Amino acid sequence: FCFEQKTFIFTKQIVQGKDKHTMKRDSSLVTKAAITAVGSYVPEEVLTNHDLEQMVDTNDEWIRSRTGISERRIAKNPQHSTGFMAVKAAQNLCQNNHIDPSTIDLVLVATITPDYQVSSTAPYVATQIGATNAFAFDISAACSGFLYGMSTAASFISSNQYKKVLLIGADKMSSIIDYTDRATCIIFGDGAGAALFEASDNGFGFENAIHGNDGIGREYLNIQEGGSLYPINENTFNAGKHYLNQEGKTVFKYAVKHMAETSKKVIQNNALTAEEIDYVIAHQANKRIIDATTNHLGVAEEKVLTNIHKYGNTTAATLPLLLADFESTFKKGDKLIFTAFGGGFTWGAAYLTWNYDYQN
Ligand code: UT7
Repeated sequence: FCFEQKTFIFTKQIVQGKDKHTMKRDSSLVTKAAITAVGSYVPEEVLTNHDLEQMVDTNDEWIRSRTGISERRIAKNPQHSTGFMAVKAAQNLCQNNHIDPSTIDLVLVATITPDYQVSSTAPYVATQIGATNAFAFDISAACSGFLYGMSTAASFISSNQYKKVLLIGADKMSSIIDYTDRATCIIFGDGAGAALFEASDNGFGFENAIHGNDGIGREYLNIQEGGSLYPINENTFNAGKHYLNQEGKTVFKYAVKHMAETSKKVIQNNALTAEEIDYVIAHQANKRIIDATTNHLGVAEEKVLTNIHKYGNTTAATLPLLLADFESTFKKGDKLIFTAFGGGFTWGAAYLTWNYDYQN
């Protein structure tokens, strides 16, 4: 898509040998996008650490102390796909906020577990919810998908051609997890969250973001089989190459480094102090990653929102699930820092001022 030159300036800088894309704005010219509603869905079925003890060589104490996770939701019904969960989250948002789906202009679904390899999931979601006037596409940026989607949604609103953009982060991680691999099966869960972006009518909303990536990451976090590099064959299938594979320790280090660095930069760019930040909305991959990242920022612990204990890592859904869980806590004007890191590698941070007071 194309941006009006007067509204956005994209700068491409070489920072420590890597490309960094910084979205700057001339605030006098830009239509600011705001999150005006949120929604969510998680499956009913709970998979506890004790359940996992029956499946792999692990224990509740190890999982809780190394990850902060006690349980996660798993969509056991095969029909309850990523698309199904995304539809539920979108319907939850529309129903609770009296949004007529036919007024939505664009539906974005951030996911790495689309219903089908081909076609994308967003058009299905748009049709199912009755977003008959929307166009729709998926965003593939793993755990950074919702964060990248925030910049995308904000840009479409700022173009003044789109009034309502529905951004959904949804992943059925249980569909790509090997439940005999204790390095991955303890971490991930299923879920979906949604946020509606509209033009701000009060000056609060999406302020700016920094995104980064490093292709080295695909060595450390991937599904090898089923793409164009390694199409499915019997040998790779029998070797379990169709499951998610990660080198946890490496991913951990990269995640802390890049989430901390990028968040710091966003905080600096906006001339904020740690005291001025009301909440940090960080990707829920591992409580120790969240703690290490936010320690670098100097933000008080109570401002760092978490729900990893009950959902685990739901990939693209972690950020919107936090928004939905803590919606009633936010006040108009609250200063929120978002940050995420995921496969690719992909990462980033965003600054958003909250647009509304919660009304039951
Ligand atoms: O969203 C982005 C995607 N992924 C991530 O962000 C994941 C980032 N990485 C992590 O969260 C962590 O690296 C893990 C949770 C995956 C692993 O935690 P760790 O503290 O890095 O553990 P480790 O891999 O260094 O393993 C420590 C020990 C090993 O035993 P030895 O060699 O010290 O005897 C492992 O074999 O813990 C053992 N271990 C386990 N023990 C019980 C590994 N997994 C388990 C387990 N239960 N599930």
